[in-house]
Amino acid sequence: MKYIFQLLICVTISLSLQNCAQHNECSVTSPDENICLKFSAERGIPMYKVEYKGEIVIESSKLGIDFKGLSGLKENFEVVDFKMQSVNENWDQPWGEFKTITDNHNELIVELREKNGEKRQMNIVFRLFNDGLGFRYVIPEQLNLDEVVIANELTQFNFSKENDVWWIPVHSENSYYESFYRKSKISETDTINTPATFELKNGLYMSIHEANLTDYASMTLRKTSNKSYEAELVPWSNGDKVYTKAPFKSPWRTIIIGDEPGDLATSTLTLNLNEPSLIKDTSWIEPSKYIGIWWGMHLEKFTWGQGPNHGATTENTKQYIDFAAKHGFDGVLVEGWNVGWDGEWFKDGSDFSFTQAYPDFNLEEIGLYAAQNNVRLIGHHETAGAVSNYEAQMEDAFKLYQKNAVNAVKTGYVNKYLDGKEWHDGQFGVRHYRKVIETAAKHQIMIDNHEPVKGTGLQRTYPNLMTQEGARGQEYDAWSKDGGNPPSHTTIIPFTRMLAGPFDFTPGTFNFDYETANKARVQTTLAKQLALYVIIFSPQQMASDLPKNYEGHKAFEFIKQVPVVWSDTKVLDAEIGEFVITARKDWNSEDWYLGTITNEASRLLEIDLSFLDTNFRYKAEIYTDGDVASYEDNPYPVDIETKELTNKDRLKILLSPGGGAAIKFTPI
Ligand code: NOJ
Repeated sequence: MKYIFQLLICVTISLSLQNCAQHNECSVTSPDENICLKFSAERGIPMYKVEYKGEIVIESSKLGIDFKGLSGLKENFEVVDFKMQSVNENWDQPWGEFKTITDNHNELIVELREKNGEKRQMNIVFRLFNDGLGFRYVIPEQLNLDEVVIANELTQFNFSKENDVWWIPVHSENSYYESFYRKSKISETDTINTPATFELKNGLYMSIHEANLTDYASMTLRKTSNKSYEAELVPWSNGDKVYTKAPFKSPWRTIIIGDEPGDLATSTLTLNLNEPSLIKDTSWIEPSKYIGIWWGMHLEKFTWGQGPNHGATTENTKQYIDFAAKHGFDGVLVEGWNVGWDGEWFKDGSDFSFTQAYPDFNLEEIGLYAAQNNVRLIGHHETAGAVSNYEAQMEDAFKLYQKNAVNAVKTGYVNKYLDGKEWHDGQFGVRHYRKVIETAAKHQIMIDNHEPVKGTGLQRTYPNLMTQEGARGQEYDAWSKDGGNPPSHTTIIPFTRMLAGPFDFTPGTFNFDYETANKARVQTTLAKQLALYVIIFSPQQMASDLPKNYEGHKAFEFIKQVPVVWSDTKVLDAEIGEFVITARKDWNSEDWYLGTITNEASRLLEIDLSFLDTNFRYKAEIYTDGDVASYEDNPYPVDIETKELTNKDRLKILLSPGGGAAIKFTPI
């Protein structure tokens, strides 16, 4: 690691470090000098302000922490010292949307001490990258501060204008982020979840979120005026926010800034603000494509619980394994294999056993059969929110799976609360989810977590945390009373939910003619289903439809071939809520893939292929919406054609309403 102790000067202010200290204020810029952070502690109150290319994007905003029963760390401060350092280094990911990530940032550490009284200390660390900034509170070990209960964090985000924001509410509609993102003026919001994506009046895009959420409560944003938010930590059931003890650190509060929506989607700031991997040998971590005994339950064809239509039988699972082996899938997920599903399983969850299979499911036999076929069984732990019941069995449950060669487990927490009273995203939930990831890692198991706490880049530290839900997935298209996800949904999430990390959306619908009680429908064309494999990143990616719907279908070839991890990613063009064009390079070859999707509107795109490497001609296998395709009444038509193309070419593609296109480029 290269540390250079250097002086950074903002465009407008010129201060030496010494002057910084004298003036109780200091500035630091991003390495490219586009972003400037100004810290000040005039009148003893810590404040920050952010400029982008010379324009103020965050006005003076307060910083601080409030404690229960103690005065807060928020005023009466003097600056003891300013420290700066720069880092410019590359690190490699075991999997991801980029093989190599550059961590190039300038850091400013502000050391504060109360001017009188107990003279307590608080440091604030700012890191400025070219794609945004992060800051965190670091409370050192000290005489006059020991165990504390955080009552709230006072971090403000004051905008200069009343911008538009893409947001979902906190807990009122759903407690694990399964809401539609909506765009409105700040004044029309209330308390919102992060990532929250802002469209600024000057045309910029900004996302506020957090990184490295460790033993803390999630940060949400409480509207305090029509131009500002304040951090609002998710409480325990008794109203307390965080139990901790000095020394402690808050998660990073992050602000990603870009000229285009794609700059947010390809930002690596959140990963850079997490710690390097704690798992030294990552050879057992294998990105994978999987099928599952899953959609059948959501379509009410199979049941999770016992009965004549029980999905998770040995026989049925073997058939899925045969299909996976035939078509090159790595894994088969099986839900409903274990005791506890009979009746209304989602009400309580304390009946779930994670080691006892139903009599018609022979785990050992299936484990062996899968191994013989070079396929892995993917395990499933649905808790229905009963965390204590799960934690009591967790070690044994992972041991059992490890013994049967299961190296990935999908977890689930379908319940408004955890253990009947705690939020998924409070400190209770954060601690639990971490325990799962750590216990799984001990048994060399990867995690796909549904009903999670939002992602904050922890997959850098625990690369066995492969993917999460934490948004409305395609399952809503089976049973949701509102009819399912409208076509615009997937044109929004790359710039909102996806900023929190990989998403197990479960694309791959090929049959749109199913009937369920609520008459929901997958509201895309078939070609758009293919495109979603490129648009939505998940290193564990599902082909969600029933095997029989894939058999003999020409377009299935794309799902079989599309990779799940990428050495490079570019968003070529996008308008949030309208359309997206994303190109990604295969992790393991010189192949490129392109996915493009639209909302309800049909549109003609002309795509510049200059992202392709200059030294190749490519065979392009192109899957587009057929002539009269439409998500509303004719999702099926797909045209498949092959062309020779180079990076000098432009490609015209017509997307149907709710449509999309997917392309594989192979060097010739
Ligand atoms: C909700 C999950 O999101 C879904 O994928 C799963 O099938 C059910 N819970 C049952 O565990």
